[in-house]
Amino acid sequence: MTSSMPSSQAGQGGSPGRPAVLVTRAIFPDVIERLSQYFDVDHNQSDEVLDAAALRARLAGKAGVLANAADRIDGTLVAGLPGLRAVCNMAVGYNNLDVPALTAAGIVATNTPDVLTETTADFGWALLMATARRVTESEHWLRAGHWQRWAYDMFLGVDVHGSTLGILGMGRIGQALARRAAGFGMTVLYHNRSQLPATTEQALGARYVSKAELLAQADHLVLVLPYSAESHHAIGAAELARMKPTATLVNLARGGVVDDAALAEALRARRIFAAGLDVFENEPDVHPALLEVPNVVLTPHIASASEKTRRAMANLAADNLIAALDAGPSAGHPPSVINPEVLPRRR
Ligand code: GLV
Repeated sequence: MTSSMPSSQAGQGGSPGRPAVLVTRAIFPDVIERLSQYFDVDHNQSDEVLDAAALRARLAGKAGVLANAADRIDGTLVAGLPGLRAVCNMAVGYNNLDVPALTAAGIVATNTPDVLTETTADFGWALLMATARRVTESEHWLRAGHWQRWAYDMFLGVDVHGSTLGILGMGRIGQALARRAAGFGMTVLYHNRSQLPATTEQALGARYVSKAELLAQADHLVLVLPYSAESHHAIGAAELARMKPTATLVNLARGGVVDDAALAEALRARRIFAAGLDVFENEPDVHPALLEVPNVVLTPHIASASEKTRRAMANLAADNLIAALDAGPSAGHPPSVINPEVLPRRR
């Protein structure tokens, strides 16, 4: 396999009959092995940062790329890459890809839905619980040696059981969050671009409301909507002002869905009770004002990070890449295509 080669030498143009592909970030070594059965693999197991220029240089001569949600792949980039045929994200979100530009160029784009749904919903609940019950704030206080005696009003939080859960974006992950709410005896409200069929709503015990009502009614509001120009700053100062002062906010979606500066100010002024954030506007940089407020739980974009799920995501991204480049048992039929209309006229 080519993964033993220095990564910068591997796969420029591919050897005869073997397309060259790039894996932009370090990944499970056995996934590199799998890809190497079909392709000359230029990998990045040292996980060096590939800025836009380095990404462009490494993509020269490649037929496909296994990309990460932080790799920006847009029309300008692919215009200079006439051999690129497949862009396979190891993420369910794909706001890093300019899908219309890829489609126009005849490039297949894929993502990794389904395999991360339940793990991500579990983490949404972990963040919600930690936020409502001040788990990390109290732990930091304890570790700092401040605990001298028990007190009746130490770290009073807000209840989760019996409260109203609001879900903004009711796709697969939103629905998995809603299913878990039944055990807490919660009222579940949601807002989405389109209302779910009545049978699905009934099965989830969830009721569709306007965004304004969701903001006003939710005791715990969880964001799981895709990031796009329309959802940019879906939660900003005006929306935060409509929430209950006792409410919590959890962002599992993408940085940019929340105006982080406005949120930090709302937390500082106690306009809402607390927030739990797994995603940020300028990852890996976190808005400095968020680092200053105690009533926020901050995690480094790990909602899908269980061993089993990250393996499943990596393997699904590899399955997509193999099939999109007409290799393997599903040649020509990648399992999760974002732009299926491109298949009949792909490069
Ligand atoms: C993670 O953020 C994903 O989109 O899978």
